Amino acid sequence: MRLFTPGPLTTAPEVRGAMSRDYASREADFLALTAEVRTRLLGVCGATDAWAAIPLQGSGTFAVEAALGSLIPRTGRLLVLVNGAYGRRIVQIARVIGLNVESLEVDETAPVPVGALVERLASRPTHVAVVHCETTTGLENPLQEIAAACRDAGAGLIVDAMSSFGALPLDIVALGAMAVIASSNKCLEGVPGVSFVITRRDALQAGRSHSVVLDLHAQLAELDRSGEWRFTPPTHVVAALAVALRRLEAEGREARCARYRQNLRTLVDGMRARGFRTVLDDAVQAPVIATFYSSGPSGYSSAGLHAGLLARGFTIYPGKLTVADTFRIGVIGALGPVDVNELLRAIDEVLAELQATCVIPHAADRAATGCR
Ligand SMILES: Cc1ncc(COP(=O)(O)O)c(C=O)c1O
Repeated sequence: MRLFTPGPLTTAPEVRGAMSRDYASREADFLALTAEVRTRLLGVCGATDAWAAIPLQGSGTFAVEAALGSLIPRTGRLLVLVNGAYGRRIVQIARVIGLNVESLEVDETAPVPVGALVERLASRPTHVAVVHCETTTGLENPLQEIAAACRDAGAGLIVDAMSSFGALPLDIVALGAMAVIASSNKCLEGVPGVSFVITRRDALQAGRSHSVVLDLHAQLAELDRSGEWRFTPPTHVVAALAVALRRLEAEGREARCARYRQNLRTLVDGMRARGFRTVLDDAVQAPVIATFYSSGPSGYSSAGLHAGLLARGFTIYPGKLTVADTFRIGVIGALGPVDVNELLRAIDEVLAELQATCVIPHAADRAATGCR
């Protein structure tokens, strides 16, 4: 099965193979893996010794909640920049924790407007949270400009880099971010089960977290002291992540990003040639996941397309937009343009099976696809 999804995603056999042996969580070989993973994570975003990579058991949202609860004092004021479901989730988590939170919300197809952010920063929020790549659509927010505005205003920037970390450029020192959050199962191409926060060590304080298991200060203190996780670690996932991070180093972050960009170009050109429309303008589209309007060639249904592809060994993803019926196709994971072309050929077969009529204007282009 090939997963054209934003994670869990298609992993390399070598990554899956790392899970074929057992590790005891307190033995030296597993502690060495944990240390290696933490060091490599710092390297991915250029962090120095002033930062620490703190892994947690659980999916990405666990790390988002851990970061908000561990980094923002109750006396703080958090401004969340929202243009999709993951920004809205940050607001929801902050409310449940009981933080003083407000949001700057814009359309799901528009990047965060930096001018409006600068205006809001005049009222002196202590912290700002933003989603780097909004996986709701695949939109890339202007992180450098946002970070510069936050630096100028003295606000601590917390970046949800869940679906960009390891592929899009992200230099935590140059950005001056307080923390970056991500997980094992997206652009790092590991399996799901570990999330992590890379944060400035001096941003943590004992006793601040609202939670026992999501307390980053306590987790870091134990990792520093003994090299161990406080609670049972997902040993197989950590072993797979170590291999995934070695693979990233061998490929190079820039080459990985270029591969994803090539995947995206192949996909979007191919889908447009088949009569599908993207929700985002190319200018704001990150090479992570593309969103298509469900209204495509006539006679087809997105449910039929999904089922037909699944039967052929490909998974695509449902839409998450609030304003339109859409579906999404991810371009990250251990996949290249060859895989994308095979997906497009499978889409042609399914469209032909569904007897879809292309809305492609030119006969020559129509003939190149499977639909009539
Ligand atoms: C940008 C972003 N933030 C947060 C999350 C939440 O991660 P999880 O579903 O792993 O908890 C996701 C998941 O897709 C995401 O894409």
